[in-house]
Amino acid sequence: MAIRKRHRILALLMSEVMSEKGKVVLITGASRGLGLAIAEHCLSKGMCVYGTSRNPGRFSDCSFNLLQMEVTDSSSVKLAVAQVLDLEGKIDVLVNNAGVGITGPIEEIDLDEVQHHFDVNYRGPLRLIQSVLPSMRQQGSGMIINITSVAGTMGLPFRAVYSAAKSALLLSAEALRMELRPFGVKVTNLVPGDINTDMAAGRYHAPVIQNSPYEKLYKKLLNRINQDVNTGSSPEAIARRVYKIMCKSNPKLYYTAGPSFQQFAVLLKRVLPSRLFERLMISFQKLD
Ligand SMILES: NC(=O)c1ccc[n+]([C@@H]2O[C@H](COP(=O)([O-])OP(=O)(O)OC[C@H]3O[C@@H](n4cnc5c(N)ncnc54)[C@H](OP(=O)(O)O)[C@@H]3O)[C@@H](O)[C@H]2O)c1
Repeated sequence: MAIRKRHRILALLMSEVMSEKGKVVLITGASRGLGLAIAEHCLSKGMCVYGTSRNPGRFSDCSFNLLQMEVTDSSSVKLAVAQVLDLEGKIDVLVNNAGVGITGPIEEIDLDEVQHHFDVNYRGPLRLIQSVLPSMRQQGSGMIINITSVAGTMGLPFRAVYSAAKSALLLSAEALRMELRPFGVKVTNLVPGDINTDMAAGRYHAPVIQNSPYEKLYKKLLNRINQDVNTGSSPEAIARRVYKIMCKSNPKLYYTAGPSFQQFAVLLKRVLPSRLFERLMISFQKLD
């Protein structure tokens, strides 16, 4: 009993020591949704917060520094990172949050849209990583948190491209952790299920083509996908989880978050035989 009490006191003291107060955090896509919630939570914890938006002028009442950034444009990414470094001298934490959705049957989806999607959701975060790493390596510390997705741990029907881009980011982070081991820079991923944001509004939907072999199924799934986001976890709850990850001195490769059945699916995918998992997915998604 006494030992447990001592452990609890020690944990409390440690969490105080590990507080992120005064640290500089750069969060991409902080104009709304999850990015905004993360930025506001970090601000409430005393962090020095820089967020980004493609149109920061639209958010003049923003409570933190909001910089212009288009993640598909390398010079825009470099400029925003340089601005933070000029003003603060360092970036302690990068949260690669900016991202969009995409849906459509693989056979029909426009390949230019696929390329654009990868430019935002995969190459975008890589541009950020490449821009912040020189300073993080030099200071011998730093943390990179990618916001990936449960969709990046399994192929979701009619969301293959989104799954692929998030999965690419997750796997790249796994490799990057080892590449950065000598330099004291930590890399981790938040793997959320559905979050109640306006993401559906900015998502690219391949059109439902009349008389297409996928018409009925894709239409049904599209309605379902949009409903799922509306009943997802609150962005504020996910933001608190992100902050807790920032406080870790030795973070894991990834942390799941969001609706518990979706977190459970990530576990099932790891442990079940692939055909059994597929059967479960087909029945859960009502694809029969
Ligand atoms: N919502 C979910 O159910 C869910 C689930 C799992 C993972 N996620 C991931 O969580 C992250 C945040 O999603 P959210 O739901 O908060 O979406 P959201 O509400 O649509 O917000 C997306 C943010 O990304 C920024 N953005 C979009 N395209 C950009 C571009 N080309 N360049 C720069 N910034 C860009 C937007 O900023 P501006 O428009 O102001 O530029 C906005 O702040 C994404 O990576 C998403 O994939 C979301």
